[in-house]
Amino acid sequence: MSLKEHILAATQYLRERCSQQPLVGLVLGTGLGSLAQEISERQIFAYDTIPHFPKSTVKFHAGQLVCGSLAGKPVMAMQGRFHYYEGYSMQQITLPVRVMHQLGVNTLIVTNAAGGIREHLNAGSFALIADHLNLMGDNPLIGHYDELFGERFPDMSEPYNLALRNVAKKVAKKAGVELFETVYAAVSGPSYETAAEIRMLRTLGADTVGMSVVPEVLVARQLGMRVLGLSVVTDQVLPDEMAAVTHDQVSKVAEQVGPAFRSLVKGIISEME
Ligand code: HPA
Repeated sequence: MSLKEHILAATQYLRERCSQQPLVGLVLGTGLGSLAQEISERQIFAYDTIPHFPKSTVKFHAGQLVCGSLAGKPVMAMQGRFHYYEGYSMQQITLPVRVMHQLGVNTLIVTNAAGGIREHLNAGSFALIADHLNLMGDNPLIGHYDELFGERFPDMSEPYNLALRNVAKKVAKKAGVELFETVYAAVSGPSYETAAEIRMLRTLGADTVGMSVVPEVLVARQLGMRVLGLSVVTDQVLPDEMAAVTHDQVSKVAEQVGPAFRSLVKGIISEME
């Protein structure tokens, strides 16, 4: 079966079961999935029940799609995402974004846990993604093309929507939360970075580093969706003061800042047009 047939089959399955058409899509990263529990009139679909969805293999990732209402808007949330390092193709990990678009989602909020590679980005800091570097060595838009996917050569001059970034800044300011504008570097993982790699990423202009977000954003932009990207800095990695990073620590920090992060995201959803 082709990617197009997979998209259409998963879409049909969800369309028949979701009682509300979602407008806002949410991708909840490591330790941030608890936001899905605040969705009202919740309907939950485990990934392994949805046709053609991959299965989530990472600890701390619930692996389900949740639709309902959040901050007054109809949403569909991925509680746990798929990662390239799990061995799936770029097309497989981004399938849910294409399905969300088919279901009516026109705005995608992607969240993740990231390493902070600048002095001002400490564990627990919140970052607004202003731009990214795709250093994953692959791209989900490579391969067979169909008009259903959007444009063959999508523009990336403003991957992260300026108006949504301004809403995020306004909401953060009002809540007294510091939100740093960052350039996010996506790497394949699953190994964390060496000191030399952190130096390289800094030289390239990155502020944070992680193993996700970019594939979903590329697909969403190809489809013409508005995108907002938010990271929780879960560890600080500075090349001259390297300390071991662990997945447990990443998940723990993301969970600790959970309440503030959840209220930031809800505030943004409520304020955006
Ligand atoms: N590096 C890469 N990915 C990450 C990190 C990191 O330090 N922290 C959370 N995700």
